[in-house]
Amino acid sequence: MVHAVYPGSFDPVHNGHVDVIRRAARIYDRLTVAVVNNPLKSDQAFTPEQRLEILREITDDMPNVTADRFSGLLVDYMRDIGGTVIVKGLRAISDFEYELQMAHLNRQINPDVETTFVMTATRWSYLSSTRVKELSRLGADLSSMVPPATLRRLQAQTDVASSKSQDA
Ligand code: PNS
Repeated sequence: MVHAVYPGSFDPVHNGHVDVIRRAARIYDRLTVAVVNNPLKSDQAFTPEQRLEILREITDDMPNVTADRFSGLLVDYMRDIGGTVIVKGLRAISDFEYELQMAHLNRQINPDVETTFVMTATRWSYLSSTRVKELSRLGADLSSMVPPATLRRLQAQTDVASSKSQDA
């Protein structure tokens, strides 16, 4: 039984993430999608709890997938939940150097944990959470880029922001 963990900021979850989740769920017996709160990232669209809520909604129909959140070291969290394989998504070669560094560091901290990479579908290779946040703030239609669970919450934020600006 291989229990894999797909960690990330997921702020917010977009269709590229969902694609990686579905692919990894077909490969591994069990998959935990784990939200990390990275306090160094100041430009947050959603709190870690909201991101977890979105992931739970998305993975509801995936029997071998669980959503969770953690803080601290990924390899410590994996030891606690019995995960042995890290899953990361790769969009393009530009992701590789960053991912390679993390994979080696995680291996150095815990040699029993293996990192694996899942290539996103080409149609999502241009998507990033950073761009999604920017487009959302500028009022773009994101319905073809993010799942309904994310879209609804982004729209709610935009509605609140526009009613505040009308009140001002
Ligand atoms: O979606 P992101 O922000 O690219 O994901 C990066 C993430 C969350 C996977 C990475 O920052 C991480 O594993 N953080 C947990 C803390 C940790 O273990 N850091 C050492 C990694 S070498």
